[in-house]
Amino acid sequence: MDDDFKLGAMNHVGVAVPDMTEAIAFYRDVMSATDITEPKVLAPQGVTYAFVNLPTGQVELIEPYGETSPILKFLERNPKGGQHHMCFEVEDIHHAKSVMENRGMRVLGEPRIGAHGTPVVFLHPGDAGGVLIELMEIHKEH
Ligand code: CO
Repeated sequence: MDDDFKLGAMNHVGVAVPDMTEAIAFYRDVMSATDITEPKVLAPQGVTYAFVNLPTGQVELIEPYGETSPILKFLERNPKGGQHHMCFEVEDIHHAKSVMENRGMRVLGEPRIGAHGTPVVFLHPGDAGGVLIELMEIHKEH
């Protein structure tokens, strides 16, 4: 039943930032990105996020929100911020989760709603070549 799993497009690269205003100014003024969304809080995930929209995908800027934000530790180790995760699209998040578990991957938690408003899961970087991988369900008809 694993055989029908398809890895979809690269959707975004997540970048942890210590200061969202400065990060947006960098992408706008230095990198000349012309399409950057307004920052929004995603309280259940402990982040404020904004998207830098590019023809090929997005950079997802994430800043800690709240005392228990999962990216506070990352920023302790990387005070200037840094590349945090990368995200691939999948058709069915629950199927993807079970396929990954069958293949010996540690899946971090249950599917939950991510910054794009669709369910996501994360794969343990220790099983993925040191990269935190996000899988995101995406519905092509939207
Ligand atoms: Co992400």
